[in-house]
Amino acid sequence: MQVITEIEELRSVVAAWKTDGLKVGLVPTMGALHDGHLSLIEHLRPHCDRIIVSIFVNPTQFAPGEDFESYPREMAADLLKLETAATELVYTPTADTMYGTAHVTRIVMDGPAQELESETRPHFFSGVATIVHKLFQQTSADCAIFGEKDYQQLCVIRQMVKDMDMPIKIFGGPTLREADGLAMSSRNVYLNEAQRCIAGKLNLILKNFCQDIVLFDFYEDRVKEAIEDILSAGFDSVDYLEVRAADTLSRDTSRSMRRRALVVARLGDVRLLDNMPVPPL
Ligand code: PAF
Repeated sequence: MQVITEIEELRSVVAAWKTDGLKVGLVPTMGALHDGHLSLIEHLRPHCDRIIVSIFVNPTQFAPGEDFESYPREMAADLLKLETAATELVYTPTADTMYGTAHVTRIVMDGPAQELESETRPHFFSGVATIVHKLFQQTSADCAIFGEKDYQQLCVIRQMVKDMDMPIKIFGGPTLREADGLAMSSRNVYLNEAQRCIAGKLNLILKNFCQDIVLFDFYEDRVKEAIEDILSAGFDSVDYLEVRAADTLSRDTSRSMRRRALVVARLGDVRLLDNMPVPPL
């Protein structure tokens, strides 16, 4: 496994692969890798010949006061996991390499980047789209994968690739869960013991909500009930619980189309994201 920090070295390795006709797959991460990340590698593997995993805690997707400084950084452990997962190349650029001192370009998007996460984190998708665009440019990857756990992020990347005619195929990787249903996330380490016991309940409540909205009318009432269930389970607040069109995240939905339910609930300072498809009629 090669570990590369510099863009030029990355480009020359990838150029040699491409000369040999090999297809390159990218798994962008911010490190603190868990089984969910490793499953993304496995999902992407059949679609390419060489895998690059990038590890970069991207400052531009954190607002002042968010957890950029305290975000878990576990490079040595991450490299061991990636070696075991037979990754060919790990790209670990520095903030200086990525943004230098005079970086002024940002990708700003409408459509799926609006609302939901952007209500609380208005800076977030601009930071994500900008860094992901740069990673695509630097790696020349033929395909890349993003976890469905961050479903809005996946929709945003797909939209950017489509709008900007980027020659890369995007895959979504299914969410991996703990035994009690909690979606795996690098930020789950922020939960204390009591919060961790509550956290797993979100998934079951979301599952029941999805079934209810298929079976019963009065969507607004179902949302209210599910929010009450989340609060009764011990969560401190709910940022949103919504059903959106699965591809565009438009509010305009009907029961016959592909829909996605998305929720964010808070335990103390920790925001827990979950989402799932609404079963078809
Ligand atoms: O999902 C993440 O870990 C990050 O948002 C990503 C896609 C690696 C961009 O920094």
